[in-house]
Amino acid sequence: MKRFKQFGTGILIFFCVFMLCGSVHASHGKSLAKKKGILLVAFGSSEASAQISFENIDKQVKATYPGIEVRWAYTSHIIRNKLAKQGKVLDSPEVALAKMQDDQFTHVAVQSLHTIGGSEYHDLRKTVGAFKQMGGFEKIILGYPLISTQKDMEKAVDAIMKNIPAGRKKNEAVVLMGHGTHHPSNAFYAALMFQLQLRDPNIFVGTVEGYPEVDLIETLLKQKKIKKAYLVPFMSVAGDHAKNDMAGDEEDSWKSVLTQAGISCVPVLKGTAEFDEFVDIWVGHISGPLGHF
Ligand code: CO
Repeated sequence: MKRFKQFGTGILIFFCVFMLCGSVHASHGKSLAKKKGILLVAFGSSEASAQISFENIDKQVKATYPGIEVRWAYTSHIIRNKLAKQGKVLDSPEVALAKMQDDQFTHVAVQSLHTIGGSEYHDLRKTVGAFKQMGGFEKIILGYPLISTQKDMEKAVDAIMKNIPAGRKKNEAVVLMGHGTHHPSNAFYAALMFQLQLRDPNIFVGTVEGYPEVDLIETLLKQKKIKKAYLVPFMSVAGDHAKNDMAGDEEDSWKSVLTQAGISCVPVLKGTAEFDEFVDIWVGHISGPLGHF
């Protein structure tokens, strides 16, 4: 009788486990095997010089997550069209995620390679949200851009301080060129300048398309009687803005404006993603506060 009871319990447990597996199995209708992938999303650039940045990010992500497939998407359709004409096909985030769904990925970490959470990042949130709602993946998460939290800001300040151009003297300025945006997140640039100046009062942050503009930076440099400035992009790549709007010979480039004001300029054509300290911040966001991947 006792033996029979044990046998009965055994059967019961067997059935429970069987049912449980069955329901898990049915819940996503596919195999139980996990297929993890990372999708890196950048604005994109058609400049050859930008590839150094992208390759550095790709290398560091693969080193941190060995064995996980890494794919790329560019948000700018102008850049994608330009590259397509050169035979380089890059997907939008929407197409890239649809392909990953079709290729039966179960866990996808999307990582924004933007500098701040502006319009591009928020569009990406909508896209990721749509895929989440559709239930195409078991899990899909989105990592924050470079500067999102105060901790990120502190790490970015450290990275900037560590990579100040060699040979720069304390009475010379370092002028960072951010992209800038109409989005409320534009406030990050002035906040960054404030926190940098607590460490070094001659570091400035301006933007091409937002606030602070170069005219304000010029005024601040003149007030401090600064005679020489290193111009450094605060964008992941040294692309079109760095080459033309910052270091170009046109009348309204930052180099021209500041030179006109009697400040000699030394442009440095390197994007932030060429430096490991910045890439570490992005890579840290892949599994970061949005859940374990
Ligand atoms: Co732009």
